[in-house]
Order: sequence, then C-alpha cells, then structure tokens
Amino acid sequence: MIIGVPREIKDHEARVGVTPAGAKALTDAGHTVLVETNAGQLSSFPDHEYQDHGAEIVGDPGHVWGKSDLIVKVKEPVESEYVYFRENLVLFTYLHLAPLPDLTDKLLASKVIGIAYETVRDRANTLPLLTPMSEVAGRMSIQVGASYLEKEKGGRGILLGGVPGVPPANVCIIGGGIVGINAAKIAIGMGAHVTLVDVNLNRLRELDDIFGGRLNTLASNSYNVTRATREADLVIGGVLIPGAKHMVSRMKKGAVIVDVAIDQGGCVETARPTSHSDPSYLVDGVVHYCVTNMPGAVPHTSTLALTNATFPYLMRIASHGAEAALRQDPGLAEGLNVYKGTLTHRGVAESQNRPWTASATVLA
Ligand SMILES: NC(=O)c1ccc[n+]([C@@H]2O[C@H](COP(=O)([O-])OP(=O)(O)OC[C@H]3O[C@@H](n4cnc5c(N)ncnc54)[C@H](O)[C@@H]3O)[C@@H](O)[C@H]2O)c1
Repeated sequence: MIIGVPREIKDHEARVGVTPAGAKALTDAGHTVLVETNAGQLSSFPDHEYQDHGAEIVGDPGHVWGKSDLIVKVKEPVESEYVYFRENLVLFTYLHLAPLPDLTDKLLASKVIGIAYETVRDRANTLPLLTPMSEVAGRMSIQVGASYLEKEKGGRGILLGGVPGVPPANVCIIGGGIVGINAAKIAIGMGAHVTLVDVNLNRLRELDDIFGGRLNTLASNSYNVTRATREADLVIGGVLIPGAKHMVSRMKKGAVIVDVAIDQGGCVETARPTSHSDPSYLVDGVVHYCVTNMPGAVPHTSTLALTNATFPYLMRIASHGAEAALRQDPGLAEGLNVYKGTLTHRGVAESQNRPWTASATVLA
C-alpha cells in the first residue's frame, strides 16, 4: 500500500501521524511511505530520519494525498485539505466530526473511508487512541500546576514538595480516570500531599490499592469537593462536573486550577478554554490554566505516545486493506465514521441529526 503522511497544518498542531520508527516498520513490510517535507519537524523528527528509514520525502502535499491509498494524520483535515478527498481514499486520524457538519458533508460527498481515532474501542471497551493523550495531559497537569504556584506566575509562592520542616502543597485531583491517576503519580512523586475525588467507589478502591497510604481518596459529592478544593493549593480537573458552582470563590488566593477537562466544558464554572499562547488568567485571585490541547506543548512525547497506540492498527490496515482490517476487528470498526458516502457512527449522526447505517451493515 502507499501510505501518505502529510504535515499537519491546523493552527498550533505540532504532532505527526507516523514516526521514523513507524516508517521503517511499514517499509520493511513492503509498503511505500510518502512523508511531506518537514512533517515531523515540530515533533523533533527531521526529514533525514524518515529518509534513512525507507520513507520518501515529498514537497507537494497534493502529491502526498494524491498518490496515497491511505493517509495517516493527527487532526481532522482543515478546509484547504478538502480538495484532496477522493473516492476510496482511506483516512486514519482524529476526526471529531460531531461539531463539524461541513467536513462531514465533504467526506460523505467524496466517498472517503474515514476511520476516527477517537471512536476506536479495544476489547476492554475503552478508547485506546484517546488514552495516551490523557496520560500526557494528566502528567503534564502537575508540572504546569507546580510552575504556576510560583509567585512570578501569579501563584501562592509554594514549592509543590515542600522542604524538610515545611509542609508540601495540597493537591486535589477531581476524577480518578486516566488523567487523574497520571496526575496522582507525578504529584506523589514530587512529594505533594494528594487527595483524589471520584464518584466511582470501585475506582477509589483500585487507586487505594495502587497508591496505598500515599493517596487520600475521597468520595465525590458537593460537600467533599468544596472542602477538598478549599484546602487545596493546586486543583486538577480531570472530569466534567456540571454544576460545580461557587467552588473558586472559596479557594485560597494564589491557588491554581489546571482544568484538563476544559475540552468537554471544564470542571469549574469559571473555566473558559485557553491556548498555549495565552494559557492562564485569574478569577477571584485563583490562577486558571485551561488549555484545551495540553499535549500540544510536548509534541515529541505526544507523537510517540499517540503513534505507539495507533501503529498496530495502521499496520493491520496497510497489510490487509481497510475493509478486511475493519471486518476482523469490531473495535476498529467502531472507529469507522464515514464509508463511501454513508455516515456510520451513531454519535456523530445524533449530534448532527442525520441518518446513519451501522459499520457492520456497510461492511457486510
Ligand atoms: N485538555 C487536554 O489537553 C486534555 C487531554 C486529554 C484529556 N482531556 C480531558 O480530560 C478529561 C478526563 O479524561 P480521562 O481520560 O481521565 O477520563 P476518564 O473517563 O478516564 O475519567 C473520568 C473519571 O471521573 C470520574 N467521575 C465521573 N463523575 C465524577 C464526579 N462527579 N466527581 C468526581 N469524579 C467523577 C469517573 O468515575 C472516572 O474515574 C476528559 O474531559 C478528557 O476529554 C483533556
């Protein structure tokens, strides 16, 4: 198969869909890999690393899209890329179609086969191509939060781990999912005093088994969340909690909130989406950091983490063809969002109020 790796052109996107290691494995398996010039540059993968491992570097994005059977990207195509859509082209990337009716129209009209990372499921019914980004954001949240606790950044002037004779900072993590557990790991590692709040008691039992006495677990209810955040120097929002009101006004001045869940609406009512170029603002003396694509700050790590997860699927699509790979793996078939003019994902269809047909039916 000919596999194309375009350079991402969405604003602030620095990741790339295939690493030099991936290019090597694909070319070793007999496939051709076309990488657009500088596609890996911002993730610290220069062109020569791809070339040294069997890929061809191509200057013209039209050539990459036009010659390839399968395009591997990171973000959904932007408008200037729509011209490259054509019948039977396989597109493997984050698509996030629900809020993008125009892109959905174009993909359907051009009969592209679109497999979206964010809806692929594994045998445990989790979302394996979203997990790595939650891992990155969860770990990064503590690094970022520790830095915003410094006086110069508007924080209380507290060192996360304290020093002998001086207590460490109190960190409160709301939501003990992938973001939460990764935040807890780093915060505990840095010596903070960590409390994690979750509604799921079985999850709290698991976390208690993993961290033992180094993590305080707390059942989530409005009383406990208010109390834990009032005492916190750093709050990590790892889940959307609708209606978490008045929390911020009761927090300490100079405390910091890293609202990782901001991409779904956020954990506190004062949260609004920010970007890496202007990541934080103050409300009631509390620093808010609400960057919607936190992994974008560490593209080298994020690209490696993402491609570790996507690559096995990519190899199967390349080796067996998209249709056979989708038929063999119902979890991958959940990732099929558009197939030759038919919308095949219930969630996207419901949010855009359109008809849809199950992927199992179109693939039968
Ligand atoms: N900003 C970014 O760059 C970025 C990157 C990755 C993920 N995210 C977002 O981070 C959020 C968390 O992701 P995740 O992968 O950890 O999700 P997850 O589903 O693994 O975890 C959510 C956890 O929250 C718990 N929970 C549910 N309701 C709760 C409540 N009322 N109080 C306390 N806990 C509650 C659940 O039991 C679960 O353990 C998502 O909104 C995700 O989109 C943002």
